[in-house]
Amino acid sequence: MSQYLMNNYGNRNHSLSRGEGCYLFDDSNKRYLDALSGIAVCGLGHCHPAVTQAITEQAGTLLHTSNLFNIERQEQLAQALCEISGMERAFFSNSGAEANEAAIKISRLYAKAKGIAEPVVITTQGSFHGRTMATLSATGNPKVQEGFSPLVDGFNHVPYNDPAAIEELCKTGNVVAILVEPVQGEGGVRVPDEDYLQHLRQICDQYDCLLMLDEIQTGNGRTGEYFAFQHSNIKPDVLTTAKGLGNGVPIGACLAAGKAAELLQAGSHGSTYGGNPLVCATALATVNELRKEELLNNVRDRSAQLLTGLTIALKGCEKLKEIRVKGLMVGIELNENCGQLVEKAWQKGLIINVTAGSTIRLLPPLVINQEQVDHIIAIINDIVRED
Ligand SMILES: Cc1ncc(COP(=O)(O)O)c(C=O)c1O
Repeated sequence: MSQYLMNNYGNRNHSLSRGEGCYLFDDSNKRYLDALSGIAVCGLGHCHPAVTQAITEQAGTLLHTSNLFNIERQEQLAQALCEISGMERAFFSNSGAEANEAAIKISRLYAKAKGIAEPVVITTQGSFHGRTMATLSATGNPKVQEGFSPLVDGFNHVPYNDPAAIEELCKTGNVVAILVEPVQGEGGVRVPDEDYLQHLRQICDQYDCLLMLDEIQTGNGRTGEYFAFQHSNIKPDVLTTAKGLGNGVPIGACLAAGKAAELLQAGSHGSTYGGNPLVCATALATVNELRKEELLNNVRDRSAQLLTGLTIALKGCEKLKEIRVKGLMVGIELNENCGQLVEKAWQKGLIINVTAGSTIRLLPPLVINQEQVDHIIAIINDIVRED
């Protein structure tokens, strides 16, 4: 590891030099099947022609002007995302954490408008919302917060998938927003009850607070609908996304509807790079591919294949605790810590991730095919049983 880099990522043992579709290649040209997608980023796989073309064309036209000027591509991307989601306005950031920062700032302005001096945003235990000071304070994981006190005030963490706990807090009158992931990603691919979001919508309506969904990881087709909330027949007030939005270029978005869409006014928020022509042209090309019904159908089909295939393959395996699947977010929880399986999979030409200590997490490109999914299942079965 370079002595010139800070140590925050720890030791990284491997390098990759090239990508093509669902495969990555190392310096010796060994091929790896990518079941991680750069942590849910490269939904269209690596070097997708539509994305490469958009980047190349835009790079030869105009990279950056700043938000002091109209940016046509930014306007087009905002319109596309609003059409897809039913939201009304967009703010573009450079990352997921910054998209959540915008959402949190919107909740503060909402509190001000309502005359609440000490507003509370409810978030959930096991959640992950980012690494900036406000978003790590919102995150429901003490490990992420360790060493960074004093944290930002105004977050209250309740158990995930427990609407009653939220309702109890709302009775205090200080709650202005609920910030929640439709499926907890970093927390171990935790899938809540089907009516969870509907309950949250109803509570937000009853207590006049904002339903803010963090779809940084679940958005952009990952769960088999463009946004995960679209499985639930509700609409949030605020919706954040990033990761898959740019297929690898750094972009995030905070979308809002209704009263929440009018709170950020001139001068109240901004970003030098946010939504520049390069990232917006790339994201627009990405979104136009991701929204295609055939792609979302592939996510659903490959999801069903993974659930069935893994269930059959791992049947009777004593180490297996639970398999959790929502679209192409897959968590295979074992009864023991299993971080070492990442290296074992690498040796067999498969890239996976382990999260929350004991959960193998698969986030393959959304364009993955049937044969590639079979290959993932076979290798996972080998490494879990061999170990
Ligand atoms: C649900 C969720 N929110 C926020 C973030 C933070 O995004 P970023 O790393 O782009 O700041 C992540 C990243 O893993 C995430 O999964």
